Amino acid sequence: MTRREINFGVIGCGLMGREFASAAARWNHLTADVARPRIVAACDTSEPVLRAFCDSNPGVRAAPDYRDLLASPDVEALYIAVPHHLHAEIYTAAIRAGKHFLGEKPFGIDRAANAVINAELAKRPDVVVRCSSEFPFFPGVQRIVSLVKSGAIGRVLEVRCGLLHSSDLDPLKPINWKRMAKFNGEYGCMGDLGLHAAHVPFRLGFAPRDVRAVLTKVVKERPDGKGGTLPCDTWDNALLTCTCGGGPDDEFPMILEMKRIAPGNTNTWFFEIDGTHASARFSTRNPRTLEMLFYERGKPQAWLREDIGYQSAYPSITGGIFEFGFTDAIQQMWAAYCDELAAGTSGMKQPFTCATPAEAKLSHRLFEAALISQRDRAVVKLEV
Ligand SMILES: NC(=O)c1ccc[n+]([C@@H]2O[C@H](COP(=O)([O-])OP(=O)(O)OC[C@H]3O[C@@H](n4cnc5c(N)ncnc54)[C@H](O)[C@@H]3O)[C@@H](O)[C@H]2O)c1
Repeated sequence: MTRREINFGVIGCGLMGREFASAAARWNHLTADVARPRIVAACDTSEPVLRAFCDSNPGVRAAPDYRDLLASPDVEALYIAVPHHLHAEIYTAAIRAGKHFLGEKPFGIDRAANAVINAELAKRPDVVVRCSSEFPFFPGVQRIVSLVKSGAIGRVLEVRCGLLHSSDLDPLKPINWKRMAKFNGEYGCMGDLGLHAAHVPFRLGFAPRDVRAVLTKVVKERPDGKGGTLPCDTWDNALLTCTCGGGPDDEFPMILEMKRIAPGNTNTWFFEIDGTHASARFSTRNPRTLEMLFYERGKPQAWLREDIGYQSAYPSITGGIFEFGFTDAIQQMWAAYCDELAAGTSGMKQPFTCATPAEAKLSHRLFEAALISQRDRAVVKLEV
């Protein structure tokens, strides 16, 4: 099978830049005929990080600056995975240069920065821009999305979604940019984890009408890695209670959790929905297992536990009896982006697109309201 190749440049070769390189390097994993990403150039302001990236990905050109990638005719698309304070600058420059890209969340350090990105995007509808969010590509999540879209849930009673980490429980964990508001943003853990919690609900049309947020800062300073300490001024945990639905006859609560300090959790993403006809729940804690309850009057209300295994959106060499994991979700997300870029939204081999700028915009509206809710200790209405 000869696949179309898309030449990519990578801006930011840290944690996530390397995940993309790994996913791109094993494109032979996919049996679906999806355009193949080929990383031709990369840049990072850290010289050792860039060198290590190019050493482990032979043939990738080291570029001195992201502007070099924007000016390179051989770079068709980009992956931009840099700290949040740089999103507006680099995303808008990429759009102006006419480069397609998958950008990391939160898509701007705050709502104003996100608006700047969206204003630039409005001028270039030809540029295919999507936002990274890999958890919806777990097979269990794909099944829940189909279930909800089929209407089988009945009236929605409640939705709960979240992303939980625990490594920050260690007060001696050295600080990094994600714990500093000037780089990560005032949103704190919401900027870091929030779109992961909001993406599937938004995709299912569950737009919050109001929010009451409880945000907590637990660890106030952290080692700076050089023998001293630095202020740790970001929110560690966020619990958002929202009202969704169009009005009194169909409204329901939605609870979104984004926690850096949730003891025992290592990247636990979960989604749970309760409905009058059916309920469903999935967690990356049990990555091959989907739980569903189908209500029938007079019958026992029993949860069905199905081990769905590896049933990916884009077929792969892995047999259905095996488990699906984080790196698979990353690759499936990339397959969705490359598929959409090469074939157009209507020509995709499966219907689930990556998170859109519109969904990222909705998340900014929610997180800004959550900050106000925390400050005023009040329920904040979200303008529709
Ligand atoms: N989708 C996910 O699951 C997920 C997970 C973690 C982080 N992220 C997001 O990815 C983005 C990057 O996070 P990360 O964890 O990879 O961070 P990281 O710190 O590991 O990597 C960021 C890299 O960007 C580089 N950089 C900084 N300024 C630059 C510039 N001007 N030009 C080029 N490179 C520059 C840094 O040197 C660093 O190597 C953030 O938006 C973050 O929210 C997403």
